[in-house]
Amino acid sequence: MEWETAIRAELEPMVPYAPGLRVSEVRERSGKQTILKLSSNEHPCGPFPSALSAMEAVLPRLNRYPDGSARALRRELCARLGVDDEHLVIGNGSNELIRLIAQAVLRPGDEVVFAWPSFVVYPMVAQMSGATAVKVPLASGEVHDLDAMLAAITERTRIVFLCNPNNPTGTIYGRAAFERFLAEVPDHVLVVVDEAYFEFVTDPDYPDAIESFDGERPLAVLRTFSKIYSLSGLRIGYGVLPAPLAAATHKIREPFNVNTVAQVAAYYSLGDDAEVARRKAENQEQKTYIYSAFDRLGISYVRSETNFVYLHTDQPVEVFEALLGEGVIVRDFGTAPALRVGIGTPEDTRITIAAFEAVVDRLGGV
Ligand SMILES: Cc1ncc(COP(=O)(O)O)c(C=O)c1O
Repeated sequence: MEWETAIRAELEPMVPYAPGLRVSEVRERSGKQTILKLSSNEHPCGPFPSALSAMEAVLPRLNRYPDGSARALRRELCARLGVDDEHLVIGNGSNELIRLIAQAVLRPGDEVVFAWPSFVVYPMVAQMSGATAVKVPLASGEVHDLDAMLAAITERTRIVFLCNPNNPTGTIYGRAAFERFLAEVPDHVLVVVDEAYFEFVTDPDYPDAIESFDGERPLAVLRTFSKIYSLSGLRIGYGVLPAPLAAATHKIREPFNVNTVAQVAAYYSLGDDAEVARRKAENQEQKTYIYSAFDRLGISYVRSETNFVYLHTDQPVEVFEALLGEGVIVRDFGTAPALRVGIGTPEDTRITIAAFEAVVDRLGGV
């Protein structure tokens, strides 16, 4: 086999997704017993109690394939979101939905517009499809520059990804900007709004994109159970899509793309709105402690609508390594002068702040 010609040329420049460091690795390197993994925007607590007992109950039935249409969960989500069943798609994480949408619509030579920095999977799916990734820099304040994104659209643009709130900066764009964008975006462009951190948002000016979904305009909205619902390890997310696009994703997804345990856990998590509210409030409170510590330590950061905080540093490698030495794993971005730190429990916050204090002491600043 001539591998160079056998494997599609588009894949050549791609690099695999790099997950954050593992806790065991860092325990060995730092010699610390307590290691905080704050690099993947996971929730610090386990799944909801109702989800845990439902998962246990279903284990003896895993000899059977999952419900390939995830009927119970879809019914529940449709009722909650006020959308018709033909629009709802469940994915093996919202990541799978990003990929399925790309596979359904992108052809070589198409263009995909998104803000930068933003979620690393957008350029990956563009490359995978032989499409061109068009990165539009965030405006000052690390927010989406929706006007510049409109200006970046050409005849060849097939998808615009909007990450709201944005990963890694935690920022949102507001209602008026979104409405203007929707009014002006040409009809040949599919707008995919990725709302992975929807449940953490507190700003009243946040536009819930499902409210703008009418089934007609080319708008898709993605959400996940990986974040506030703590089901990252199970892989389950959902999308609200125009019916023809939803139908296309059903053709190309794996027949049993979402496993039984994930379906059951997601279904039972949806019943516990009080726990969602509690987690949201606790996340908000921990962020305020982190902000005031960063203010005190002279660390420049961006106020966040998510469960992570983006901070600026002119020595990212040194700060990243020094935090590892304190047993705290954050997210770095290669040479970019920034780091992203996840929000954890109150005890995690205490450890995080102590680690930053130690690093500022050692390096003289961040
Ligand atoms: C903006 C954004 N979209 C999508 C995802 C993927 O989430 P999932 O676990 O549902 O695949 C993430 C995960 O971190 C994310 O940050």
